[in-house]
Amino acid sequence: MRKKHIYSALAVSIAAISIALLGGKLEVLSASGPEPLAALPEVPVPKDAPLTKDRVALGKHLFFDARLSGDGSISCADCHEPKRGWGDGADLSRGYPGTVHWRNSQTIVNAAFMKAWFWTSSASTMEKQAHSAINGSLAGNLKPVLAEERMKQIPVYVKLFAKVYGKAPSYDLALSAISAYERTIIAKDSPFDKYMGGDKKALSTKQLRGKALFEGKASCIACHSGPLLSDQEHYNLGVPKNSAFEENPQRQIAMRERMRSSGFSEDVYLKLDRDPGRFRATKNKADLGKFRTPPLRYTKYTAPYMHNGVFFTFEEVVDFYNAGGRDDPFGTKTKKVKPLGLTNSEKSDLVAFLESLSGSEILVERPKSPPYGLLKFPMVNQW
Ligand code: HEC
Ligand code: HEC
Repeated sequence: MRKKHIYSALAVSIAAISIALLGGKLEVLSASGPEPLAALPEVPVPKDAPLTKDRVALGKHLFFDARLSGDGSISCADCHEPKRGWGDGADLSRGYPGTVHWRNSQTIVNAAFMKAWFWTSSASTMEKQAHSAINGSLAGNLKPVLAEERMKQIPVYVKLFAKVYGKAPSYDLALSAISAYERTIIAKDSPFDKYMGGDKKALSTKQLRGKALFEGKASCIACHSGPLLSDQEHYNLGVPKNSAFEENPQRQIAMRERMRSSGFSEDVYLKLDRDPGRFRATKNKADLGKFRTPPLRYTKYTAPYMHNGVFFTFEEVVDFYNAGGRDDPFGTKTKKVKPLGLTNSEKSDLVAFLESLSGSEILVERPKSPPYGLLKFPMVNQW
């Protein structure tokens, strides 16, 4: 009887090992814990959109041009302002004029490394993300055809599109150029990156103690892992709600509009006093309240934190994790977040490590938007 047990246990483990081998490197890695922290690799660039000088220059112009919004008053850079960490500095984003947004404006710094975009990974390419940003009713609120006609009437853009693509300005090419520009907004000069690159003096002893906590007792690395300090998975941590949804009718309208346009009925969205997270995209109740693990570089400049901007400092974030997260009405809170029992000096070490993940500030002057021109009419002898 006993022998049989041993044999079957042996068979199970052999099967497990061969599945791991067959499954390839990834399976073996995940079985052995989170991906270790590392320096950033090269930024991924699609083969058909290399980061040439002209493509990036065109993308930069478009990123800062308010004519890529319906009423011509708001550009990407107004919600992703260089001097506000390339976000907008508010807990919840301002939104298109006449609306307010329902989520925190994410930074675009290092966004090029992600495999999906937005707080709930609802865009599968950077170009699709840019389309949502220009076209979405809470951001750019501009129809593609109007975007195209505007760009075609700006002589500098006509020249640049011809130079880069050999074509007239088009909406899709604009998305590609904007994405190319975003792929150049990269932060990889932090003390942490220098340390990971071999400069063992780049982190102070306090920061090194913080790093050990991050990878050990505080187990931040369970989710903030690998070179991005993000596993790009989704979790409900029990982030407290932002009372804006109860106090501001415009915020309620924004959330309800988003839910309705995703096909939800009133009996679902009228009950919501907070963002239901990835549930909106997947319609799977197990995803209620889940958000993507954000990468942590450059966060010194990107407060307030979380999808709803409820925390303003690293100290508040660390206190939140030390308490094991907070309320969760959805019943989907992750078991990976639990009270940590960190002492005050450990908390301060962890904060010092978080600070080491940011290097110099990336500041860019807003380029002057080139003017419209009048197009000449061709001679028409007969209509
Ligand atoms: C009205 C404010 C607003 C405008 C205008 C705006 N954004 Fe955003 N952006 C946001 C908000 C808010 C989010 C997060 C929304 C969400 O997760 O649902 C976001 C998210 C993003 C992200 C995702 C980052 C990540 O890590 O996944 C990128 C990239 C981005 N915006 C680029 C752009 C570009 C490019 C434009 C211009 C074409 C633009 N945004 C215009 C507010 C804005
Ligand atoms: C279970 C996975 C998980 C663990 C463990 C975890 N985090 Fe997070 N972290 C997340 C997710 C998910 C978010 C975004 C949550 C949201 O917006 O609702 C986040 C957000 C953050 C942010 C805000 C970043 C931003 O751009 O707004 C910081 C800072 C942070 N975590 C640091 C830490 C630290 C420090 C630890 C360890 C004490 C830790 N995290 C442990 C998943 C995790």
